[in-house]
Amino acid sequence: MLAGRRVVLGVSGGIAAYKSVELCRRLVDAGAHVTPVLTEGALRFVGRTTFDALASERALVSLWEGESRIPHTELGRRADLVVVAPATARVIGALANGLSTDVLTNVLIATRAPVVVCPAMHTEMWEHPAVVANIATLRSRGVTIVEPEAGRLAGGDIGVGRLAGIDSIVTAVESTLAFSGDLAGRRVVVTAGGTREPIDAVRVIANRSSGRQGHAIAAEAARRGAEVVLITAAESTPPAGCAVVHVETAEQMGNALDVEAPSADVVIMAAAVADFRPIPISDGKHKKSDGPPEIRLEPTRDLLAGLGSAKRPGQVLVGFAAETDDLVANASQKLTAKSLDLIVANDVSAPEVGFGHATNAVTILDGEGGAEETGLLSKEAIATRVIDRVARLLPAVR
Ligand code: CTP
Repeated sequence: MLAGRRVVLGVSGGIAAYKSVELCRRLVDAGAHVTPVLTEGALRFVGRTTFDALASERALVSLWEGESRIPHTELGRRADLVVVAPATARVIGALANGLSTDVLTNVLIATRAPVVVCPAMHTEMWEHPAVVANIATLRSRGVTIVEPEAGRLAGGDIGVGRLAGIDSIVTAVESTLAFSGDLAGRRVVVTAGGTREPIDAVRVIANRSSGRQGHAIAAEAARRGAEVVLITAAESTPPAGCAVVHVETAEQMGNALDVEAPSADVVIMAAAVADFRPIPISDGKHKKSDGPPEIRLEPTRDLLAGLGSAKRPGQVLVGFAAETDDLVANASQKLTAKSLDLIVANDVSAPEVGFGHATNAVTILDGEGGAEETGLLSKEAIATRVIDRVARLLPAVR
């Protein structure tokens, strides 16, 4: 559930800051991409080096260092969730009142992502009417509060105010993320990679697809809260956060789709599926001494066309079109013929585009005649564009 999600871990100045080291590790172990943001107060209790070593990125401790010119807005925008543990009375007050006094409060005010606040302070402070009012304000704005526990506090005092247990904080982060993201509660099936069709026991007919674009789409859908099933023929490691079905041939991909597609809200066919497969020439290995074999091909099932004719109302179906000529005309013909909602077309003869490259340039065609040209982008950025379009097509109420 946390895999691939971008979590900002805010740490403010309280003795419980040492516990957020463990929280950082737990979030990273669960697959989250964690960026720590430490206040000056936090740095009096824990060293940034500890977080630098454990987190996915170096800790941010000031607005005035690092590569980015505007680290707070950039971090806030990229985040899927911000968790503050421990949250001092000062940070809680600043967030409740919209005051940006340091890097952490800047990030908190700049983000639209869900926020989880885990207060830790002395009992008198926790019960002060100002803190009580600030907490009520945050709750009314949808902030998740992980209540402090009773127990031993700094200086030997006993009372309510101890940072909640790490398990409770991780659970709060997980459940907040599960209900956030524009694809939360949706089931998305993505196919990726080029199928390989056997000629004999050792040889195959394959294509140049690396699976990179399909894997990036699956990762993006998972990051935005979808339950993702990735049916992949690619050999590269699939992204975290997806249920993965490994296949090799078009027939196996079709069988997996027969199981997974009917209940999906979205099916995205990024795979390069073989149109023809060899009629196997031998059960074992064809020997060189037997001479060059005659390889005869037979058509495979058009999986996407089958999904198009079985499409449920409200289901969103996205195809890809790899073209070398007449990109838009060919792709829009496929859009109509296969009953698609969107088709992502690329000119695979263009430099740096499509098969095997880290970049892609696509035209996204829709059923209303719209055509969005992306220009040359990373495959991750293309994935974001595709998922943005899918999210807009999903019916609001199911
Ligand atoms: N596709 C499929 N099953 C096949 C062939 C293709 O599901 N047997 C899907 C691909 O995953 C892609 C779309 O159909 O989403 C278009 O694939 P493409 O190879 O561009 O087009 P084809 O329909 O195979 O037509 P052509 O080869 O003539 O371009």
